[in-house]
Amino acid sequence: MFKNIHLPRYERIWLTIGIGSLFVFLTVLGILAIGLGLQPPGHMNTISPEAVKTSTPFNKPNIVKVGPNEYRATMVAQMFSYTPDHLEVPAGSTVHFQVTSPDVVHGLYVPNTNVNIMVVPGHITEFTYTFKNPGDYLMLCHEYCGTGHHIMMGKLKVT
Ligand code: CUA
Repeated sequence: MFKNIHLPRYERIWLTIGIGSLFVFLTVLGILAIGLGLQPPGHMNTISPEAVKTSTPFNKPNIVKVGPNEYRATMVAQMFSYTPDHLEVPAGSTVHFQVTSPDVVHGLYVPNTNVNIMVVPGHITEFTYTFKNPGDYLMLCHEYCGTGHHIMMGKLKVT
């Protein structure tokens, strides 16, 4: 390698190691991404963005009790609001979020918790969190989604 270019010997060795390791990393990345079907965390199921408003469960976004201290929040994040934009659960509740978007990429971030969801059109993002501490929480969009991005928010009340 680099036989026709006049480079100091060590330069040549290091260039070879550098380029070699680049190929190793790209190969590993390629195997992980394509071979093992790697994708962003929580994006298990897909949905056509055009079908969000008309197909179950996202045609009726809501929060329902699915067990003792357990809720399922089916949410749509769209320019520039959440549906529903107000959730209320008793303290100690485990909430299974499933969120999708009919338009562009949004976020769903609840400060002071681990809820930090990226909502990608075409994907259903799932995330589970147990709200132990009572209080008024905000649901904020933390992915820039357009001119109304800064007003996109909702409320989550833990009673
Ligand atoms: Cu939705 Cu930013």
